[in-house]
Amino acid sequence: MHNALFLVDDLSYSTWQSLFQSALNFSSKKDLKVEGRQKSVGLIFLEPSSRTKWSFAKACLDTGVSYYDATVDGTSSLSKGESLVDTFELFLNLSFDLVVFRSSSDQQLLKKLSDYQMPFINAGFGSEAHPTQAFLDAFTWFEKGIPHEDVRMLIIGDVAHSRVASSHFRFSKIMGYQVGTLSPPNMGPSGEQIRNYDLNEFSDRKSAIEWANIVYVLRAQKERHGKEDFESFDPLSGNELRKDHIVMHPGPFMRNEDLEGGLVHDSRSLIFQQKKNGVFCRAALLSHFLWEGREIWN
Ligand code: CP
Repeated sequence: MHNALFLVDDLSYSTWQSLFQSALNFSSKKDLKVEGRQKSVGLIFLEPSSRTKWSFAKACLDTGVSYYDATVDGTSSLSKGESLVDTFELFLNLSFDLVVFRSSSDQQLLKKLSDYQMPFINAGFGSEAHPTQAFLDAFTWFEKGIPHEDVRMLIIGDVAHSRVASSHFRFSKIMGYQVGTLSPPNMGPSGEQIRNYDLNEFSDRKSAIEWANIVYVLRAQKERHGKEDFESFDPLSGNELRKDHIVMHPGPFMRNEDLEGGLVHDSRSLIFQQKKNGVFCRAALLSHFLWEGREIWN
């Protein structure tokens, strides 16, 4: 048994509620330094990241936690032929109090975390899950005073390959918001996801946008398929939106591919607030896992 966040379902509704409050405290600069003995966090990102890694690093600084950001590239012993799983195990041997990791869907890495009983936070795992992104997104509307139950979130784009979308499907069931999807052909949610998470799958773009109060745009995950799949799928335009729509995007955003470049800084966009809130939400999670850890995986 050990403390970990792999899926949003690993924490209860009441824990998430206290995390929202804790993130709010961090955002208003209360409780910035957490009391307690010195703790160390290991960041190991085996896929590219800017927002997630940097905001975890900043959250460590803000909470007074020491962190080490492992660089796993040509300068590590991977370049001498050491396997990824052996490199990962080496990192776990360094005995951090908490590991924050990102990787492809590599079950061997999960097994190592379990073998070592290592407290960890999933910072993005293949197409499967990105729980801290779902948390910071929901925190962003919560902080603006929008109750979860009033949210009709339309996720636009490459839903099939998006770990952010799948985490929102799960989180919507816990927090009580509605999710709809609008995707190019073959890029939508699976039938199982539609059934399990009561998704509204739209095919008509106008009706989809009309239904939503939050339009959440995804990046085409071109590393997993071809750009041609998106050739007939237009970027979101400001002209399609009402004045009261909210626009969000997990980033990295591709201007004029995912959405019109100007929408990023439009008054309806919370995109940069999401980035800012990433630090507060991750600080709340560090605080939870390092000082109030609860047990999962009995
Ligand atoms: N949203 C997100 O995970 O961004 P990064 O890949 O830059 O961390």
